Formats: sequence, structure tokens, C-alpha cells
Amino acid sequence: MAYIDSFTEECSAEAVNARIDEAVEPRFREVMESLVRHLHDFVKEVELTQREWEVAIDFLTRAGHMSDDKRQEFILLSDTLGVSMLVDAIQHRRPSGATENTVFGPFHLDGAPEREMGANLSLDGKGESCLYAGRVLDLDGNPIEGVRIDVWSDNSDGFYDVQQPDEQPKWNNRGVFTTGADGRYWFAGIKPVPYPIPDDGPVGQMLSCLGRHAWRPAHMHFMLDHPQFERIVTHTFVSGDPYLTSDTVFGVKDSLILNYLENTGGDTQWKANFDFVMVPK
Ligand code: BEZ
Ligand code: FE
Repeated sequence: MAYIDSFTEECSAEAVNARIDEAVEPRFREVMESLVRHLHDFVKEVELTQREWEVAIDFLTRAGHMSDDKRQEFILLSDTLGVSMLVDAIQHRRPSGATENTVFGPFHLDGAPEREMGANLSLDGKGESCLYAGRVLDLDGNPIEGVRIDVWSDNSDGFYDVQQPDEQPKWNNRGVFTTGADGRYWFAGIKPVPYPIPDDGPVGQMLSCLGRHAWRPAHMHFMLDHPQFERIVTHTFVSGDPYLTSDTVFGVKDSLILNYLENTGGDTQWKANFDFVMVPK
């Protein structure tokens, strides 16, 4: 076994990595060795001071204390540093024409009610109503039957139901729909509004110290599942939103920006049409 006895500034990473047991699973070894190398390179490049090290430890400690099953400060950290979108980009290199993914975010809930096509998701009656409609297609343009479409959005005050359990009806602006043979979906929701990500914790402090805002442009979340196709986790964004070019979590992609059109003569104020294209597994 390779053995480096002395820990010096020059060979610090090698000294740490030499301690990894030979029996360690190869992928875990690869990830940990690289993490240690990059972490040590970073400390050396900036010549991290003791005080800065203490600030970092305090930051991580506060992020940990703030996190539980309802609030995930580490995901917010990953999102605002662009890591969530980078992992997603690497994992979902899709052919042209396929719907692009974007960030999942912390506000999805498992177990949202299955709703009839055409149902209205807005249970608090607030906001500007919008008809969402389109098709789910394969790469050849054929409709896909049996796609489970899970949707969620903020309300017109910019909060998800989970953020205001005492104010919003449970499952407000959430629902699950399943496509029929024509691959079509349609439901009523609201035209979403921009909102700041939760910024009352260490990540919010970090953003403000960096001169960054915490806002996301208005968007509707979608997650599409089908046994034979790759899951899509995405949003549609409202064109013209002031935060499209500075989304605090880097989630905007041109192909996901949608014109919300006035729905003259319809039951809702707006309509938003979007076709999803899924890639076989
Ligand atoms: C969201 O879109 O719900 C979201 C994404 C990342 C961080 C916070 C919220
Ligand atoms: Fe969101």
C-alpha cells in the first residue's frame, strides 16, 4: 500500500488520500480523492486564513441547524452556487428537440391529488387564472399515453402552500394529471409570480454579502413520468419577467420561456400552451 507519512503543505492532499483503504469502492474513491485534491488546491490558492476557516465552519453549522424535513438550506446553497443546475446538465444531456430539465427546488410534495383533466389547481381563488394546455410527445412527434404530470406553483403572493400551511388550503396550486391516448393535458392554474427563495438563513446572508438578489422569475413546475421514458423535471417561465436574466438559481433556459397569451373569450384570463418532448429510457 502506498504510504506517505509526512503531512506537509506541498503534499497535503496526497497525504490524506493515501489513507483511503485499498478495498474502498472505486467510484467512491474517485469522488473522494478528487474532492480532497480540489479542496486542498482551493485552500492553497486563496491562502485561507484561520478566521475565514472559522466563518466557513460557522456558516455550515448554521446551515445544518436550519435544515430539517421542511427547510433544506444545503439545497439552497447548491442551487445558488449553480451546482444543482450543473449536476442536472451533466446528468441530462438530451438530444435536440427534447424538453430541457431545470432545477427541482425544495417545494415539491409527494402525494399531490390526482385530478381530472381540466381541473382548477387554485384553491385559494387568488391570482390571475390561466389555462395550461399542450401535448406530451416522443422525439418523432407521436403522442404519449399514460404520462403522469405532476405540477406545482406558488400562489399570487409568491408563496407555496407548504410555506404558508396556516394560510393556504393544503394542495393549493398542485395536482397530478395523466395523459390519454392523444397525449394531451389541460388544467387551470394561475399565472405565477416571481418570488425570492427563502433568504432568512445563511444562504440569504451569503447572497446579500455577494451583492446578489434572491429572486426567481415566475414559473410553473412540471415533473413528467412514464415507465418507458426519461423523467422530465422542468418549469415553464413567463416571458417578460424581470428576473429571467438573473434567476438566483440559474434555472432559466430559453426553450422554457413561454408567452402567456390573453385568453379572450375563454374561462381564464390567460392561456399558456407548451408541448413536452420525452426521450426513451
Ligand atoms: C423553486 O423553484 O421552487 C426553487 C428552486 C430552487 C430554490 C428555491 C426554490
Ligand atoms: Fe418554484
